[in-house]
Amino acid sequence: MRLLVLLLALTASVPTWAQQNAPKAADLAATPPMGWNSWNTFACDIDESLIRETADAIVASGMRDAGYTYVNIDDCWHGERDADGFIQPDPERFPSGMRALADYVHSLDLKLGIYSDAGTQTCAGRPGSQGYEYQDALQYARWGIDYLKYDWCNTEGRNAPEAYRTMRNALAASGRDIFFSICEWGDNQPWTWAKDIGHMWRTSGDIINCWDCVVSHGNWNSWGVMRILDMQVERGLRVHAAPGHWNDPDMMEVGNMPAPNEDRAHFAMWAMLHAPLIAGNDVRSMTEATREILTNQEVIAVDQDPLGVEGFPHKRAGGVEVWFKPLADGDWAMAILNRNDDPRAVTFDWPEEHVEDAFSQNRPHFDQHTYAIRDLFRHADAGTTASPLAVTVPGRDVWMVRLTRAGG
Ligand code: GLA
Repeated sequence: MRLLVLLLALTASVPTWAQQNAPKAADLAATPPMGWNSWNTFACDIDESLIRETADAIVASGMRDAGYTYVNIDDCWHGERDADGFIQPDPERFPSGMRALADYVHSLDLKLGIYSDAGTQTCAGRPGSQGYEYQDALQYARWGIDYLKYDWCNTEGRNAPEAYRTMRNALAASGRDIFFSICEWGDNQPWTWAKDIGHMWRTSGDIINCWDCVVSHGNWNSWGVMRILDMQVERGLRVHAAPGHWNDPDMMEVGNMPAPNEDRAHFAMWAMLHAPLIAGNDVRSMTEATREILTNQEVIAVDQDPLGVEGFPHKRAGGVEVWFKPLADGDWAMAILNRNDDPRAVTFDWPEEHVEDAFSQNRPHFDQHTYAIRDLFRHADAGTTASPLAVTVPGRDVWMVRLTRAGG
């Protein structure tokens, strides 16, 4: 009898222990998340009307049906903590409160995301979560929040794995499945420690809506799309991503780039990177060209491919890059990126090219098999790999296709 009591007591204690050490719910990130975030266009100029109108536009534009699920509020939603320490939204900008906003977003079959910081204050000087992790996670769960982006400003002296693990545990203890997005800009190489902590981790500094620029803000820089792309390759990141935990090269600037071809190339390369597709434009007023890019189902299918393997550059010369990405069922995605300002004629003699992904151990074997070519932006078939490819790629643009075994 005593043994039975002891066993019962031990069993009863398991949930608490398990909760404290609970890994994140991996199935929230079987493929990289898709959604929208307020920061890239609106920075601190946000309120509940913007979030509601954006959610409406995500539905009306077809983005929801294309897979965009999360409506994410970035920095500056915060008001003060109440007398018990619970964080409150800014009463002027979010007068109806977060619960009402979450209910509205959920009524559209979308999910609501929020933002905090592992330090004393967020990057924009709002209250951070340091010392309030469990209380903040509980508050988010009560509001019905589905996603937390957790930043790294004002964290002097903190240990990054420890800080992110604490919030991971707090979210696990909150009783709600909350997607956890780590945002420490790659400073502490999160790809080496964050697999069981976050569903994704920022790999690099903040993006900005230019092609290949660096903008200095004093003690930090923001980076153009090409710079961020290069960092993914230089840092050897693709071996660290897999279903459940993804590299995050940052939220997109599609619709904010100076020209539609740059938007297209940016979107294509994020899909080749198997990156989270978090739109950062004003979706209420986007052009039809932007809407078409963001809702391109054939490109999205490359990003969301169940194999979960990032693409890689096969060749890079003279500002022209030929990328490949293995897909489920033996298909391949291919992107020819022209980084130059002027058009480039590119040829590619399939059997002569020994394309190989040493990491995932996949090879298309163009010398043995013929593939049908499907142009993913023109939505048209484009011949086969039986004859050499000759294509002209406009400046700052991409030619992106899907290759499917045609037999032979
Ligand atoms: C950091 C992040 C950005 C954004 C801002 C908000 O710079 O990297 O993505 O969240 O903070 O202040």
